[in-house]
Amino acid sequence: AAVAAVATPPLGWASWNTFAAQINYNVIKAQVDAMVSSGMKDAGYEYVNIDEGWWQGTRDSSGNITVDTAEWPGGMKAIADYIHSKGLKAGIYTDAGRNGCGYYYPTGRPAAPNSGSEGHYDQDFLQFSRWGFDFVKVDWCGGQAEGLNARTAYQAISAAIDRATAQTGRPMVLSVCNWGAQSPWDWAPAISTMWRTSGDIIYWGENASMDRMLANFDSAQHPNAQSPGHYNDPDMLIVGMNGFSAAQNRTHMGLWAISGAPLLAGNNLATMSAETRAILTNREVLAVDQDPLGRQGVKVAEDQSGRQVYSKVLSGTGRRAVLLLNRTTSSASMTVRWSDLGLSGAATVRNLWTGTDAGTFTNSYATTVPAREAVLLTVTGTTASPTATPSATPTSTPTA
Ligand code: DGJ
Repeated sequence: AAVAAVATPPLGWASWNTFAAQINYNVIKAQVDAMVSSGMKDAGYEYVNIDEGWWQGTRDSSGNITVDTAEWPGGMKAIADYIHSKGLKAGIYTDAGRNGCGYYYPTGRPAAPNSGSEGHYDQDFLQFSRWGFDFVKVDWCGGQAEGLNARTAYQAISAAIDRATAQTGRPMVLSVCNWGAQSPWDWAPAISTMWRTSGDIIYWGENASMDRMLANFDSAQHPNAQSPGHYNDPDMLIVGMNGFSAAQNRTHMGLWAISGAPLLAGNNLATMSAETRAILTNREVLAVDQDPLGRQGVKVAEDQSGRQVYSKVLSGTGRRAVLLLNRTTSSASMTVRWSDLGLSGAATVRNLWTGTDAGTFTNSYATTVPAREAVLLTVTGTTASPTATPSATPTSTPTA
């Protein structure tokens, strides 16, 4: 077994985008409570992930991690217990190298030398598992600075997680966070649940950027690497963060959904608007992301530069999610052709953000897509022929 088997892309929330290193028990508890009270939990969001900043690199004489109990009363087990008490799963964070990112890029807390797990993989992952964590994100700042081989390092980490699980009985998701360095899509599917394909979607204190969001989406296009349990990760969401309009939030969410990407909200769940909550919890959009086939949508047409049609094969017969992405600066009529979807004849079209059926159309459907926005549809019709399916069939997951 290679780490936890997760049937569909992980759904949850992670602390970094909003809080960076400014986290403690009360900050996380407030997000846990908001995940429940906002309806995010009911919509399927499950993981509450503590990112960097929970630990400043201190160990006891036996090498065990020690935490600041003023910030984390009861230690990390107490917050994992609290998360579990709400029926949710708990995530934690470390670095593959000796030093965590805070040592190189201090973000609001004292730099933290030795806040990585190198030299302590078995000890630390067993500790995380004993504390009750179900998910661990492993960053790469120390690994990169030391010139480690990423494949070798993450294989060792994955094996340490498997040994920890054998002792505790608690499976852990491994989130590989080496930003696409050394082509993780080639080796991470065999040893992990998800792997980042690019740098950060937002840096602390910055506004959400459409360009960076689109670049991260593009970087994650590795459809042959993806299958149920193994996902390209274009980074945590910036839906609902400063700088994005509601239309931009929907475009971002649609891109992640058509990709079948992990959906880890990064906004402040305790203060989000009703509009943001509605976008994050849209059941039909989540169903596209969570489709059990686990496919990644692929680009099937680009008639004019920057006007792109993506198709994700869904479970069932003749079902496709379709995203019309207009990257240009002018509004345009865009067309999706059934021949590009591997469908023929009449098909029904539904707009997922408006929640309305557009009707039944033969051969194609056209609609207006505003500048720098996307329209997300489902198209249900008749499969033209089995071999015409446009989306690449994922290769079987290689073994480690
Ligand atoms: C880099 C990662 O890509 C981010 O998601 C975040 O975990 C920071 N490091 C933490 O320092």
